[in-house]
Amino acid sequence: MSSDIIVIGSINMDIVVKTKEIPKVGETVIGREITENPGGKGANQAAALAKLGTKVSFLGMVGNDTNGKKLLSSMQESGVNTSLIKSIEGSSGTAFISVDDEGNNSIIVVPGANDKVDKNYLEENINAIKETKFVLLQQEIPMETVKEAVLLSKKLGKTIILNPAPAHCLDEEVLKNIDILIPNEHELARLSNREIKDIDSIIEASKYLISVGVSKIITTLGEKGAIYVDEAVVQHFKPFTAKVIDTTAAGDSFIGGFLHSYLDTGNIFKSIEFGQKAATITIQKYGAQVSLPTIEEINNYGFYKKSEVIVD
Ligand code: RIB
Repeated sequence: MSSDIIVIGSINMDIVVKTKEIPKVGETVIGREITENPGGKGANQAAALAKLGTKVSFLGMVGNDTNGKKLLSSMQESGVNTSLIKSIEGSSGTAFISVDDEGNNSIIVVPGANDKVDKNYLEENINAIKETKFVLLQQEIPMETVKEAVLLSKKLGKTIILNPAPAHCLDEEVLKNIDILIPNEHELARLSNREIKDIDSIIEASKYLISVGVSKIITTLGEKGAIYVDEAVVQHFKPFTAKVIDTTAAGDSFIGGFLHSYLDTGNIFKSIEFGQKAATITIQKYGAQVSLPTIEEINNYGFYKKSEVIVD
């Protein structure tokens, strides 16, 4: 089955604790409630795309445990083609997430099966990559596999989108093959090896990465919106207003929304706004995949842009 986009990435069961405050180093706090929800940056981004109606296939692995089955059915319910996902001996990926009363989170990921996504598996599935137009990656699978997937996909003439999360350094050989890079501020700092403190430093860091060979960069800034930079254009997108409940998967929802629209229209600016709309709905619900919107939810929601731009 051919698809418009292939996501090569991670699948996790999220174990979420709600708490008044996220503990600092050495501190103990009391949590309120524990829930288990399907997550993983790769799976969330694929589910976000599929829920909006994009044809998406997934390359990744789960363990042959009960979570593996639950994770696959959640992705299938969202409409992701999971037929190429391998179920292997051992545990599925697990993420331990604390969410505080302001909706902030902190996450520890134990990769489990995600760590086994390797070059051989990519080669086994080369036909699926050949048949698609776009390849979307994150960094929750081994970095050698990310690098291999970028180089292989480029050789096959694909458009490559990288969400460099969680943050890792990347060599120029990989960066120069990225068509659209979607980092947050921390990931941008790591990739550009620069301190990010204000809008000018975001632009400067983005321009540096563009000089290395990245084509387009969208830096997501949470409540401060997003900044787009390419060789000729710099544009800041104000955020939409929202009552934040849980920011988990906000970036994943943005990427799903953005790419759904970009594959459809090719218009980068409209698509960034569409991604912002998707993320605005996601942050007003708890959980990762369960908080991703459908196209109807986006179309029926009354969005308002924040009037003040707060970047510095
Ligand atoms: O981006 C949010 C995701 O990060 C969570 O679903 C968790 O699994 C981690 O991968």
